[in-house]
Amino acid sequence: MYTFEKRLLKRELSGNLRRLKVVDGLIDFASNDHLGLARSPELMSRTLLEKRTTTNYAGSTGSRLLTGNSTYAELLEKQIAEFHGYQTATLFNCGYMANVGLLSAVATNDDLIFFDAYIHASTHDGIRLSRAKAFPFKHNDPTHLKKRLKNASKTKNIFICVESIYSTDGSQAPLNEISSIAKKYHAHLIVDEAHSIGIYGKEGRGLIDSLNLTTDIFALVATFGKSLGVHGAAVLGGDLLKNTLINFSTPYIYTTALPFYSLAAIKCSYDLFPTFEIQRKNLQRLVDICSENKCSNSSTHIQSIKIKGNHRVQNIAQQLEKEGFDIRPLMSPTVQKGEESLRLCLHAFNTETELFSLLQFIDFYKGFYHE
Ligand SMILES: Cc1ncc(COP(=O)(O)O)c(C=O)c1O
Repeated sequence: MYTFEKRLLKRELSGNLRRLKVVDGLIDFASNDHLGLARSPELMSRTLLEKRTTTNYAGSTGSRLLTGNSTYAELLEKQIAEFHGYQTATLFNCGYMANVGLLSAVATNDDLIFFDAYIHASTHDGIRLSRAKAFPFKHNDPTHLKKRLKNASKTKNIFICVESIYSTDGSQAPLNEISSIAKKYHAHLIVDEAHSIGIYGKEGRGLIDSLNLTTDIFALVATFGKSLGVHGAAVLGGDLLKNTLINFSTPYIYTTALPFYSLAAIKCSYDLFPTFEIQRKNLQRLVDICSENKCSNSSTHIQSIKIKGNHRVQNIAQQLEKEGFDIRPLMSPTVQKGEESLRLCLHAFNTETELFSLLQFIDFYKGFYHE
């Protein structure tokens, strides 16, 4: 048997074979469209108008370093940088490429990277490409980070990688403590704000802004495919960072730049999401309901409801789908064995009735498929 057939069979037997599926007409408790921007007719019509009035080109025609650059892209980067309070923004085609492109460009095989154990796969891949020596620290554990740093060589460049809100369980990083530690050890702090921009802070500027940590961050990753409802990403920081990315980031250099339609969509989302106060309030109300019902340890719009075992969590997700809900299981090896869960994504457009009904069904099926 071919090796890849064996590997697929192994996955199937452990209950975590990935399959594509199309979901229609279910109540959305799974997507990253937390503010409802991806389905907003206003964002769609603004984007089409913006695109039509700016250019006739469908594609960007090349890498940003060749023919893919434009005044439009540069002005958009300026708008994003100013909004988040940074000197520069550098657009990437998606958040995955931003993390891979950032880590592989700024760190070299002579450097050290310390990363939270729950960090996203894209940061792992960026670290691998950088060839720096990398060390995990326990999830959201500043004491463990400090312990790790104490043994680090003072002569090396040090990077610390965290997310402000973790994608798997919605937990929030102790950013104030981590930032003080980074300062003490002269480390470059990199924060992935994929899950906080649009939702937290003044006008959805994110957690770093709301904690007044903007100037303490070496690089901030903003992604646009989640609450911003569109596609793409930017790395925010100083001039030196931007220059480093333009010169050394292969996922930036060797790819066709975002098409004008995407640039227009990002611009229109940045014009629109700061005004979505009602949506942010609705979302917070649903988060409060989850806290009152002790759904999970998370106090954010991503809740992780523990249901041990790949088969059990998968069976429950399938039953919930039959009841009309789209909610996805998180299975090992994506999470550690024993940490399997339902990943409950809340949205401004979900109603309280929908949420209460879902929670009741989850309780019922947890009893039905007992451990
Ligand atoms: C924390 C985090 N960073 C980066 C990414 C990648 O972003 P994108 O979907 O824009 O590639 C994701 C998406 O899964 C994420 O959760």
